[in-house]
Amino acid sequence: MAKIAVIVGSVREGRVTGKLAKWVAAEVAKVADVETLDLKDYPLPLFAEGKSPRYSPDYSPVPEGKKWIDKMAQFDGYVIVTPEYNRAMPGVLKNAFDYLDSRVADKPAAIVAHGVTGGAQAVASLRVTLPGNGLVVLPNALFFTDGVGDAIDEAGILKEEFQDGPQGQLGGLSQAIAKYADALKAARG
Ligand SMILES: Cc1cc2nc3c(=O)[nH]c(=O)nc-3n(C[C@H](O)[C@H](O)[C@H](O)COP(=O)(O)O)c2cc1C
Repeated sequence: MAKIAVIVGSVREGRVTGKLAKWVAAEVAKVADVETLDLKDYPLPLFAEGKSPRYSPDYSPVPEGKKWIDKMAQFDGYVIVTPEYNRAMPGVLKNAFDYLDSRVADKPAAIVAHGVTGGAQAVASLRVTLPGNGLVVLPNALFFTDGVGDAIDEAGILKEEFQDGPQGQLGGLSQAIAKYADALKAARG
């Protein structure tokens, strides 16, 4: 089974993205080995390294950065779960991607976003950034337009009245990330 990381893209006090990530992780776990990576557990200073780990493979960043990039290297694919902040992904997420080295290259990334427009502009910003890391972004993203706070409970269960639409889309996205993870692993050799 492919190893997939579900990344929680918000560290804000009182965030709701953690609930969305629980819902996502439970579905992806039906088709892959899943680990949720909470950026709260990987507190990174603002990227101020002398070099980019991606372009300087022998370069080691600050210990917090090294712990993060070594962890990220362990997976075959990623599902980024993100809110939209000021028409883009949160800064904490962009900062985390700036640390990554080339070990994530040629691996797939799926995006699940939420916000007033389903996080459309957070998705757009990730579609620009992730290929910079060498990641292969899946064509379809999940735009969660219902309020996460209302639709998903603390255990990460999508309430009955919100099931139409998002649940089916998540099933498709989960199967796609597992399929791309296997295919790209074979392609990397
Ligand atoms: C700094 C900030 C900027 C925001 N900007 C947007 C935005 O541009 N578009 C949007 O749809 N929602 C925006 N929101 C609303 C968030 O999508 C909403 O607060 C959501 O709950 C954030 O996810 P979180 O609770 O996991 O942090 C913003 C919220 C914050 C805190």
